[in-house]
Amino acid sequence: MTSHPILILAPIRGITDCHFRSLFNHYFPGFDEALAPFINPQRSSQYQPKQLKDLLPEANTSLPITPQLLHTNADDFLFLATRLHDIGYKEINWNLGCPAPMVTKKKRGSGLLPYPEEIIQFLDKVMPKLPMRLSIKTRLGLENPEELLSLLPALDNYPLTEIIIHGRLGKQLYKGTSDRKNFARCLEVSNHSIVYNGDIDTVDTFKELQLQFPEVNKWMIGRGVLADPFLAGAIVGRQTTDKLHMLECFHKDLYSCYRELLSGQAHLLGRMKQLWYYLSVFFPPQKKTWKKIKKCNTEQHYQDVIDTLFREKS
Ligand SMILES: Cc1cc2nc3c(=O)[nH]c(=O)nc-3n(C[C@H](O)[C@H](O)[C@H](O)COP(=O)(O)O)c2cc1C
Repeated sequence: MTSHPILILAPIRGITDCHFRSLFNHYFPGFDEALAPFINPQRSSQYQPKQLKDLLPEANTSLPITPQLLHTNADDFLFLATRLHDIGYKEINWNLGCPAPMVTKKKRGSGLLPYPEEIIQFLDKVMPKLPMRLSIKTRLGLENPEELLSLLPALDNYPLTEIIIHGRLGKQLYKGTSDRKNFARCLEVSNHSIVYNGDIDTVDTFKELQLQFPEVNKWMIGRGVLADPFLAGAIVGRQTTDKLHMLECFHKDLYSCYRELLSGQAHLLGRMKQLWYYLSVFFPPQKKTWKKIKKCNTEQHYQDVIDTLFREKS
């Protein structure tokens, strides 16, 4: 086991796209790799190359990434995996964790966890033909942690690279806290390499988790780094001076990138607000900051609010 913890930037659909990932890694180094947000499942007959735009190697030169698939149809999964292999990917991830009701009601994401026999059938069909390695990202269950606990021993029969476990149930969405007790039970019943995910939001929390789970050396962080972009760097012992200036430059670059790419101010502001929902924590009082940003309906208004935020904090 290496002493250097390996940090993975979590997929946050609607925020951590290739533009975000590359600017984020430039301004806030600390992550070793990233998992890309899931590709929306389509039938292979409806495949359009533009579905892979976010994953093109030329758009992902700074941080190694793993693509994620949400499909539960083995043929469609294999079709897309082969396209990803063709553009150079050696590993993909299967999403068994998404909690969105639109997804779970189709028995996808965490919606498949109550059906272990379907998960096994899927793997039996996919693994022999898969041209690359496979990892899984999951929750503890949809309704009940026994769902994952009973599935994990069966997953030992498959050569997965790792299993990333977010310690919540699908039915919780993002409520409550990540369940460390059941995460610990998962470690006991699996021989796979397990990645911890859920609620790492300070260096102290990270250190506490490291002490609690010494056998884990890969950690995935999502919302914690959106609220404090310097967190991954701080965990690996980087000193950052002039944080506000770095954050301002990052914001400026990200905003101008989306201004070029997205059509219409509603679209642009909507995209920036998704980030500010979390980043407003950096500008306390968080609720007041978020409220001000949420209200912005024009680019001018948005720019004024952001300029004031940075000016007042400096
Ligand atoms: C808005 C949003 C979008 C997300 N999109 C994805 C996704 O595409 N794929 C995935 O596996 N997890 C997704 N997640 C879950 C996160 O990757 C992560 O597992 C979860 O937020 C818990 O980790 P954290 O507490 O460090 O944020 C998403 C979470 C949020 C809040």
